[in-house]
Amino acid sequence: MYKWPDNFDFETDEICQDVFKPFILSELDKLELYDRQRPSGHTYIFHEHAQRVATNVRRTCVSMGLGDTVAQNMYWAVMPHDIGKRRLPVEIWDQEEKPDGEMKAYRRTHTQLGAMIVRDRFEGIKHPFKDLMVDIMLHHHENMDGSGTHGLKGELLSAPVRLASIIEAYDGYRIWRPHFADRDITPSGVLERMREEKGEQIYDMALFEAFAKMKEADYKKGRILQRNA
Ligand SMILES: [Fe+2]
Ligand SMILES: [Fe+2]
Repeated sequence: MYKWPDNFDFETDEICQDVFKPFILSELDKLELYDRQRPSGHTYIFHEHAQRVATNVRRTCVSMGLGDTVAQNMYWAVMPHDIGKRRLPVEIWDQEEKPDGEMKAYRRTHTQLGAMIVRDRFEGIKHPFKDLMVDIMLHHHENMDGSGTHGLKGELLSAPVRLASIIEAYDGYRIWRPHFADRDITPSGVLERMREEKGEQIYDMALFEAFAKMKEADYKKGRILQRNA
């Protein structure tokens, strides 16, 4: 049984509106400034990735029938998932070659660095949104078989984490980078590759197919809005 965040409503909750929302917006501004320090011509822009992932997560929740409250709570909880990246040296992200294991592990420390930013800032605050945001920040690079960043297996990964990790990986594969060479990065090409090459070892396939259904419906309709792609 999946457990979704329905025990608060981000849009009407005072702490969410007065504390967490301004924090997230200011963190996204900081991430944008960080992106601007990166070499020109790079295409995987972190603050734009955050928006696209959050939007796709919200739309998937709605299309799964989880309701607007869960969809909106998820939207805001996913938005800051990569804020820890700005705590790492800016030059590590834009290299021509595919990152080796050591570099990949170093980059992945953005998960703990992000969670540290939240914990330091909101030490005295207890709130289910904070727990959800930290859960996604820490665990969005875990895999169902335990082969991810911190080695957590599927049974320890919450439904929000499972969904966020699928959609955030999809977005990463949709943005061409030099080591991708001539890989098919169209929406259907990326979904097919995730399904065939990664599959249930990496993703919760029920959630994956819910997301894929929403994306494939977009693709058929010829939806080309880049922000939502
Ligand atoms: Fe990440
Ligand atoms: Fe991400």
